[in-house]
Amino acid sequence: MANPSTKKRVLSGMRSTGKLHLGNYVGALENWVRMQDEYECFFFIADWHALTTDYADTSRLKENSVDVLLDWLAAGLDPAKCVMFIQSHIPAHAELHLLLSMITPLGWLERVPTYKEQKENIKEKDLGTYGFLGYPVLQSADILIYKADVVPVGEDQVAHVELTREIARRFNSLYVPNRETFVTAVKIAIGQPPAVFPEPVALLTPAPRLPGTDGRKMSKSYGNAVMLTDPETVVRQKLKTMVTDPARVRRTDRGDPDVCPVGDLHKIFSTKETMAKVYEGCRSAGIGCIECKGWVADTVVKILNPMQERRKKYEDNPGLAWDILEAGSARAREVAGATMQEVRESMGLDYSSNYAGEKDSQQ
Ligand code: TRP
Ligand code: SF4
Repeated sequence: MANPSTKKRVLSGMRSTGKLHLGNYVGALENWVRMQDEYECFFFIADWHALTTDYADTSRLKENSVDVLLDWLAAGLDPAKCVMFIQSHIPAHAELHLLLSMITPLGWLERVPTYKEQKENIKEKDLGTYGFLGYPVLQSADILIYKADVVPVGEDQVAHVELTREIARRFNSLYVPNRETFVTAVKIAIGQPPAVFPEPVALLTPAPRLPGTDGRKMSKSYGNAVMLTDPETVVRQKLKTMVTDPARVRRTDRGDPDVCPVGDLHKIFSTKETMAKVYEGCRSAGIGCIECKGWVADTVVKILNPMQERRKKYEDNPGLAWDILEAGSARAREVAGATMQEVRESMGLDYSSNYAGEKDSQQ
């Protein structure tokens, strides 16, 4: 393994919304699993972010966080290769969020596209809160506190990473001259800009749009999702009811996999050979839709089986998952603590030298 310090640092998070589905897997998780070999990775469960919309009912918050973690481990995130933790276990995120909120103009937040969209779309909850407007500031704190180089995200999150870059730039330009001049001079001498926060780049996850059983984008809230924890019989049942090419009403009608959601699933999961059989059989009415759906179910079950076995190992021994979180939190706290020390120094908030022997009180 390469020296971790020479690897670029990746950070990403998922809100703790409970069990994950196939769309989450191909949209993000599968990519994270690949990245853990190449980068120094930090992945965390954003339980505070979940609160920005679900503050009124917190009864499942903890259970949801654990479910996300179990799905991560099931999918192949490996505690020997990446750091996993829960956001609220690292309170320094909240401290940085507060400090960044001081320098973030309201206009920047009101302009974030997800803010307006979600406020309009989610009518059943009152999102006119301070916390909801500040969602991307908290996300910026999540990213900047680890000085992440790369942030793998879906398209809807790119604007949040852009905002993070703007906040980083503003912070650096406001406070970096306050830092100890010697440190600054050395950094300039070795060609490093005297910045506290590097500007992270968003890495857009190349994710195919995964249709759910009703043909719309797979989403837990639409009730059209295949969960990573669904047993084989449930997977087969769900896929059996999936909508198909509307032109293929009878068995004798020809169809086209390119306009069929089942065809889309085949394109994502099936081998070239199966794909060829699907095109040929569908266009000639040589196969029936039930058969075709059976093939896609075979492939999906094959992907889910090893995940479910791994999940079971952790479910049977809950101590394992908590040990992983404990170790992950310790590592995260170490990095976040060091950044916060620099942040406080830069902002003139470092009182620790006046409290002899109590340096730790600010960590
Ligand atoms: N907002 C992200 C989402 O809904 C989750 C998230 C929180 C995140 N903090 C982050 C993603 C930091 C990347 C980096 O998917
Ligand atoms: Fe869709 Fe397969 Fe039926 Fe063709 S045969 S319409 S691809 S389900």
